[in-house]
Amino acid sequence: MIGERLNNAINEQIKNELESYYIYLSMAAWLHSKSLDGMGHWMRCQAHEEMIHAMKLFNHIIDRGGDIVLQDLKQLKTQWSSPLEVFQDAYEHEKFITGKINDLTTIAREERDYASEPILAWFSDEQTEEEAVSSKITAELEMVGEDKSGLLMLDRELGGRAYPAGSPLDPVAGAE
Ligand code: FEO
Repeated sequence: MIGERLNNAINEQIKNELESYYIYLSMAAWLHSKSLDGMGHWMRCQAHEEMIHAMKLFNHIIDRGGDIVLQDLKQLKTQWSSPLEVFQDAYEHEKFITGKINDLTTIAREERDYASEPILAWFSDEQTEEEAVSSKITAELEMVGEDKSGLLMLDRELGGRAYPAGSPLDPVAGAE
């Protein structure tokens, strides 16, 4: 059974992951409103991944006999000045989440909760990947600068990301 201290910290992280879902969905909406549909699609895929992250932690608490307490989500930013600012925010957000995963790992070790180690290691690997990807796209947008054709090329490239099967965020799947 999971201890109260780690249980509470994971409940907080479920909130952080659901806020991540909400943040990326908000970014997707803004990108679509600017006709950057490839980037909007990429953000929808990212939002889907965040929902999966929240549910992995949700399921872990259930499996460990803990108590899930869902918390309020904070008010979100809804407007950006450029796609570059969107991806800069995404990169900063992923660094913030990495810090939270590190905090959880510290708590799990202090509490000698070895059963949480595999899932926290999974999250740590995932954060390495998410920081790398959001940092790379940010750097590419910086290179593109004011070049509209470069922006459109990047938009097309990001539009090639695959949705997880059956995602409710996929407008094609949602229309079925
Ligand atoms: Fe679930 Fe992007 O961190």
